[in-house]
Amino acid sequence: MTDKPFSQACENNKHPILAQLRRWLPEAGLVLEIGTGTGQHAVCFAEALPTLTWQPSDQPGAEAYCLPWLAEANRDNIRPPLALDVSASSWPVTAAAAVFSANTAHIMAWPEVEAMFRGVARLLVPASVFCLYGPFNVHGHFTSASNQAFDQYLRSQKASMGIRDIDDLTALASKVGMVLEQDIEMPANNRLLVWRRLDG
Ligand SMILES: C[S@@+](CC[C@H](N)C(=O)[O-])C[C@H]1O[C@@H](n2cnc3c(N)ncnc32)[C@H](O)[C@@H]1O
Repeated sequence: MTDKPFSQACENNKHPILAQLRRWLPEAGLVLEIGTGTGQHAVCFAEALPTLTWQPSDQPGAEAYCLPWLAEANRDNIRPPLALDVSASSWPVTAAAAVFSANTAHIMAWPEVEAMFRGVARLLVPASVFCLYGPFNVHGHFTSASNQAFDQYLRSQKASMGIRDIDDLTALASKVGMVLEQDIEMPANNRLLVWRRLDG
């Protein structure tokens, strides 16, 4: 048996996410992943998109969690994971061709979500994209009963967690020079939000 960390949701959702990333990520360059978690997404996407360089990261202390998956994959286009807390004043990456993050915005407190958008806007090269995957509300409404129950569960665990509304994220993005280019419905009541960094 394996001692790799495992997320069933990652297994279920990685191929639909990959199908979208093929449309939105550039041909080449460094993709920073924020909140990598187990590493299942990193390995799947780096294997399928070999001309990209994948940079996993997670909060200090959590960044090594993905190492068993990375070690097994043993790929040249996956860099060693970085310790990156989105709230840190300086990030260990200064430029990226794209940024990807899955299932993080509802775990982070809102000030951390704000910090994530500020930090992403700082390091994205103009016209590049930030692909943010997870459950989101649309115009103040839950998109499913299961998302509503999930939100209640999150808030009962920690008041600062909760499903974010796309309108709030859009307002936040506009403050840092990003626009919502595409809002894609995904399986299991999730969405992929594609934010584009404006020029200048
Ligand atoms: C629900 S897990 C998602 C993991 C993985 N992306 C996935 O889809 O399975 C949330 C992730 O966000 C990370 N995270 C939470 N707060 C963070 C912060 N302030 N900075 C960076 N990562 C953070 C956690 O450490 C965790 O890896």
